[in-house]
Amino acid sequence: MATIDAGVETGVSFALTDEQKALRELAREFAADEIRPKAASYDELSTHPADVIAKAHELGLMNLHVSEEFGGLGLSAFDGMLVGEELNWGCSGIGTAIGANGLGAGPVILAGSEEQKAQWLPPLLDEPILCSFGLSEPDAGSDVARMKTTAVRRSADYVLNGSKTFITNAGYAAWTVVFAKTDPSQGHRGISAFVVPMDTPGVTIEKHLDKMGQRSTDTSAFALTDVVIPAANLLGEEGDGFKIAMRTLDFTRPGTAAGAVGVAQAAYEHAVEYAKERVTFDVPIAMHQGVNFMIADMATQIEAARLLVWQSAWLHDMGQRATLQSSFAKLFAADTVMKVTTDAVQVFGGYGYSKEYPVEKLMRDAKLFQIYEGTSQIQRLVIAKEIFLPRES
Ligand code: CAA
Repeated sequence: MATIDAGVETGVSFALTDEQKALRELAREFAADEIRPKAASYDELSTHPADVIAKAHELGLMNLHVSEEFGGLGLSAFDGMLVGEELNWGCSGIGTAIGANGLGAGPVILAGSEEQKAQWLPPLLDEPILCSFGLSEPDAGSDVARMKTTAVRRSADYVLNGSKTFITNAGYAAWTVVFAKTDPSQGHRGISAFVVPMDTPGVTIEKHLDKMGQRSTDTSAFALTDVVIPAANLLGEEGDGFKIAMRTLDFTRPGTAAGAVGVAQAAYEHAVEYAKERVTFDVPIAMHQGVNFMIADMATQIEAARLLVWQSAWLHDMGQRATLQSSFAKLFAADTVMKVTTDAVQVFGGYGYSKEYPVEKLMRDAKLFQIYEGTSQIQRLVIAKEIFLPRES
């Protein structure tokens, strides 16, 4: 059991380095100058933000965790989380579109061979191309082991058949890591992971989803019909796919939780400004306890969520397995952003429910944090398993 002394021994600090402050500042300026001005119109039209992605790429705000050896910056989980909060403060639709390469490339970074990393990662740094993470299926979202997509070995190739849905950026991706069953009799142990170039014959984008929020991130469904890919595109060994997916999600959930904190922070700032300006009963509404207590709760919950995010990212950077803390962070930040944005709409009253003010979009955007990268119920399930059935590795 860790004690407070453990913190002293390991040098826990809430102070950012100068480099981290500069990185956060860069991301904040980018969010303010390049993302925010486009957030409302891109949301309304559900526009794929290719122009903003290209600028983010140019500034080095994408593919943060690709190591220097493969042309990247090799930033830490903590650094990535700082960037994620700021981009999502700008707009979580655009922020998710920019950040989703982290999820797409995660399996290659975690489980790819040196040759596979050299093949798939440097092009992401050379050009603003996208990759995606093909896990969910129409009948298997939370219950990953139920997936039906198959991959059958045929001499030097695999032939894939099935369908994937709710895949971020799939409609614009150059390649997707597709999870498929190589041995359907083995449940989760029969799942394998493959890099599938999206221009391979037999890959068909079936639809772009028309979503409630985060509308400028593409979320697509695609079919795989007799898709032939080289056996060299298998990541790890046959049967490793389930654990590759889980390890990837352990790594990306703090970043997603950071995005939720960014949206909550934006809603909070709007609510504070509005509460200072709007007058009822002869005083600004900030003077009414009914309002200022809501804002006090928002500030407290956001700070608590941010600390959980920082802790989970820090644990990753210490080389420790952070399944439990990643789920703490994702669960708490997702539920926090939903509460904070809902209360921000309440502070704005009727205006908050109108598209003329920014908070209704933030409330719509917030809902997705309780669903993607594992619902809030799945995070509770992971936490309960870690408490009652802890794993060794
Ligand atoms: N790291 C390493 N190994 C892990 C692990 C982890 N985090 N979690 C589980 N495992 C291992 C277990 O030890 C077990 O190993 P053995 O085979 O050696 O026994 C094996 O994996 C199976 O584990 P479980 O018995 O816990 O598996 P389960 O079938 O009960 O499911 C689950 C567990 C946590 C519910 C999992 O199915 C899950 O995470 N579901 C949610 C999936 C999800 O987040 N989907 C979102 C996709 S991304 C997205 O949203 C789209 C997008 O583009 C943004």
